[in-house]
Amino acid sequence: MSRDYVIDQMISAKTIDARIEELAQDIRSAFGGTEKLVVVGLLRGSFVFIADLVRELDFDVEVDFLEASSYGGSTESSREVRILKDLRGEIGGRDVLVVEDIVDTGFTLSHVVRLLRSRNPRRLETIALLDKPSRREVDIKATWTGFEIPDEFVVGYGIDYAQHNRNLPFIGKVRFS
Ligand code: PRP
Repeated sequence: MSRDYVIDQMISAKTIDARIEELAQDIRSAFGGTEKLVVVGLLRGSFVFIADLVRELDFDVEVDFLEASSYGGSTESSREVRILKDLRGEIGGRDVLVVEDIVDTGFTLSHVVRLLRSRNPRRLETIALLDKPSRREVDIKATWTGFEIPDEFVVGYGIDYAQHNRNLPFIGKVRFS
């Protein structure tokens, strides 16, 4: 059972859109000439971000997904990262962009980066829509970050609270009442 809460808008859909256009330009500059970049979304939280991001890229990409879990049913991060669903495709010798919704402690992204690097991609970069640097326990930073945010409990734009609110079009801050 989740506690009662309200959601205050923190980052509007319009602000997210504008930032994604900027991020897409950075990615175009970095990977524009690449033969079929593999864009890897980390399920489930990144599904909205990856959908909007790839539609801003004006070159052909391959899309794949990986599911890693670091949170049980609670808001506490556990240190154990489990791979629940692996990539469908091979990434050896390919250029890869890992798309994450939020970097919190950093355990998930660092685990995934280590795993994917062991498959010898030609180049591997990372992008996270949100970053909470004050929560970091592992020394990692995404190549590109949409927004740095304070240590607030956020939902929406793919991010859930106990599997609710992923479909909000904006990033909201949860306020428990
Ligand atoms: C959340 C989020 C990130 C990760 C960040 O995923 O989507 O992947 O936690 O936390 P960390 O930096 O402390 O590792 P979660 O495991 O809740 O799964 P979900 O994407 O399916 O919601």
